[in-house]
Amino acid sequence: MQEEGTSERQEQAQHVCRTTWRLDLRGSGEDKRRGPGAMVENSDLSLSTVGTLEDLEQLGLREKYGDVFTVYLGPRPVVTLCGIEAIREALVDQAEAFSGRGKIAIVEPVFQGYGVVFANGERWKALRRFSLATMRDFGMGKRSVEERIQEEAQCLVEELRKTQGALQDPTLFFHSMTANIICSIVFGKRFGYKDPEFLRLLDLFYQSFSLISSFSSQVFELFHNVLKYFPGAHRQVYDNLQEINAFIGQVVEKHRETLDPSSPQDFIDAYLIRMDKEKADPSSEFHQQNLILTTLSLFFAGTETTSTTLRYGFLLMLKYPHITERIHKEIDQVIGPHRLPSLDDRAKMPYTDAVIHEIQRFGDLIPIGVPHMVTKDTCFRGYIIPKGTEVFPILHSALNDPRYFEKPDVFNPDHFLDAKGVLKKNEAFIPFSIGKRICLGEGVARMELFLFFTTILQNFSVASPVAPEDIDLTPQEIGVGKVPPVYQISFLSREGC
Ligand code: HEM
Repeated sequence: MQEEGTSERQEQAQHVCRTTWRLDLRGSGEDKRRGPGAMVENSDLSLSTVGTLEDLEQLGLREKYGDVFTVYLGPRPVVTLCGIEAIREALVDQAEAFSGRGKIAIVEPVFQGYGVVFANGERWKALRRFSLATMRDFGMGKRSVEERIQEEAQCLVEELRKTQGALQDPTLFFHSMTANIICSIVFGKRFGYKDPEFLRLLDLFYQSFSLISSFSSQVFELFHNVLKYFPGAHRQVYDNLQEINAFIGQVVEKHRETLDPSSPQDFIDAYLIRMDKEKADPSSEFHQQNLILTTLSLFFAGTETTSTTLRYGFLLMLKYPHITERIHKEIDQVIGPHRLPSLDDRAKMPYTDAVIHEIQRFGDLIPIGVPHMVTKDTCFRGYIIPKGTEVFPILHSALNDPRYFEKPDVFNPDHFLDAKGVLKKNEAFIPFSIGKRICLGEGVARMELFLFFTTILQNFSVASPVAPEDIDLTPQEIGVGKVPPVYQISFLSREGC
C-alpha cells in the first residue's frame, strides 16, 4: 500500500540537499587529461553560480551530462557520481583507487588528516583495521554490543516513563542513548542521562553537527581560504571539537593510570597497549593524536547519525499512525510485552525491518556522501581523473532512484517488501555507502536502530499535538547531514508493558 497525500517530498524539494555548490561546469570533451572538467561533454557550457545540490537535479545536470560530471566547489574540482551503477563502478569495482578521503573544510583544522574517518593511505588502513577488530572484540566478547544496546534501551524506557506522557523534544534522549553505546565501547562506561559532563558533551556534538550541516558551513566549504580569517560557524565548530578532544584526553590519562595490559577493558585500553608495543617504531600510526582523533571520529560518526535517524523515524511514525499500528501488532505477535527485543527477532519481523529500511532511505541522512579522493590517476568511464581529485558519491541519487524505488518521493515501507510481505533487498539501498570506506559502524548502527526502535514501540505508543496531515517533514538543515525539524512527541505507556 502506498501512502497518500504525500506532498512532503515536494515541500522537501525546496530544501533537499541545500548543499551549496559553486557550479562551474567547464566542458571540453576533447582533452581527456584536462582533469575532471573534461568529463562535462558540452564544450560550450560555462555556468558559474552559487547553487545547491538540488540544482544538480533541477538544472538537469544528470540528464544533461550523465551520471558522472564535475562541479567546482569554489576552486576545487569535484567529480560527482550519481546513481548506484556509477557509485558501484567507482567505489567497488575500482575500490582501491577510490578509497582516499577528501576534506570537509570546516572540520579540517581539527582533524588534519588524523583519526580513522579523515586519514589516508597506510595511516587509514592501520586505524581502520584496528578499529574494526577492536570494536568486534569489545562487541562480541564478554558483553556483546547487543546486550549493551538492550541495557541502554531499558534505561531509556525508564527515563521515558518518568515523562508520564508529557510532550517532549526527543533529541536529547536519542542522543544520550546512542552516545552511551559509543561510550561503552570506547570508554568502557555509560553515563547517566542527567550527568552534567555528559550533557555538555552531547550539546557540543549536537551544536557542531547542526553547524556543519548549516548553510553558512556550505559557503565556508567554497571560500574557506578567505573566510577562515573571519569570525563564523567554523570558529565555533573548532572550539567545540577541541573541548571534546580535551575531555577525551583526560579520559585517556585516567585509562593510562589504571591500565592492566593483560586485560584491556575498552577501545582506549586496547589502543594504549598497541601504542606501547609500537613505541620504538617511529613510523607507527599508534600515537596520541590518532587516538584522540579516532575516538572523536567514532563519537562523531556514531552518535549523531543513529540518533538523527531515530528522530526522523519517530517523526514519520507520528505522520503515519497506521504504520505505527502495524509495527505494534508485529511486536505484540513476535515479542509480546514482557521480554526484551533481541536481534533474533528481526528475521521474524519483516514489516518493522522494512519500515526501518524505509526510514533510512527516505531520511537520506548523508545525501552527498562523505567526500572520497582518488589515490592515483584513475581511468573511469573513458576519462582520467587525476590523483588527489575529490569524488562525491551522491547517495541521495541512489536512495531516490525511481528505477529502484517505485515512488521515491513517498514514504512507503512496501519499497522493501515483496508481494508475500517478505523483506526485499534493494541494491540501491546504500545509506552506509559501499566499498572500502563503507561505514565502519554499519553493524552497530543496524543493531541500534532495530533494538531501540522496537524497544520503544514495545513499551509506548506515540502522540503529537499536531494532526498527522499537518506534520511537516521539511528538514531543518541539509548539508553534509540532513537534520530533521524540531518536534514534540509524547510517549504513552502501552497497556501491559
Ligand atoms: C544510521 C547510522 C549511520 C549511517 C547512516 C552512517 C553512514 C556512514 C557513511 C555514509 C559513511 C561514509 C562512507 C564513505 O566514505 O563512503 C560513514 C563512515 C563512517 N562511519 Fe558511519 N553511519 C552510521 C553509524 C555509524 C556508527 C554507529 C559508527 C560507529 C560505531 C560509525 C562509524 C563510521 C566511521 C568510523 C566511518 C569512516 C569510515 C572510513 O573512513 O573508513 N557510523 N558512515
